[in-house]
Amino acid sequence: MTSAATPRMGLDHIANEIALHPRLWRRHIQRGATHRWASHIAVASTYSAWLVGWPPGTGIALHDHAESDCALRVVRGQLVETGRDARHADDVEEPGWRVLPTGFVARCRPGRIHALANLDDVPALSIHVYSPVLRTMDFFRDDHGRVVASRTEEVSDDRVSLW
Ligand SMILES: [Fe+2]
Repeated sequence: MTSAATPRMGLDHIANEIALHPRLWRRHIQRGATHRWASHIAVASTYSAWLVGWPPGTGIALHDHAESDCALRVVRGQLVETGRDARHADDVEEPGWRVLPTGFVARCRPGRIHALANLDDVPALSIHVYSPVLRTMDFFRDDHGRVVASRTEEVSDDRVSLW
């Protein structure tokens, strides 16, 4: 059920709480995977939470989370995030990048687009919390230095390995 309501706790707090209790997510680890994977680990009326695995060299292209606010916490390894404000998506000067180390909590608010990658040689794990519940993601592509929308993907509980 999608709701416009927001959880009482902040999304970063929820991501931290989940991360600090591995019994909530450890069993969802897809061991031995060579592709990026995602396991749905929690859903409430106001948010959904996913565990995402990033084998070395994997990543996800520039995307947004539609109207969902997002907090992600890296629980193992590290990720590199490239991001920009979608309002300036055609500004070739605007993109920036940063390293998200283990324990780091990053926010990706509605209107922001980002890409994530594991550039290390060890797997990474991250916990992502979305509110409202994540239902769609818009993907973008680079067109000669300008970012243009390319497709929209629906996210549902039974498509956990597709994003
Ligand atoms: Fe994302």
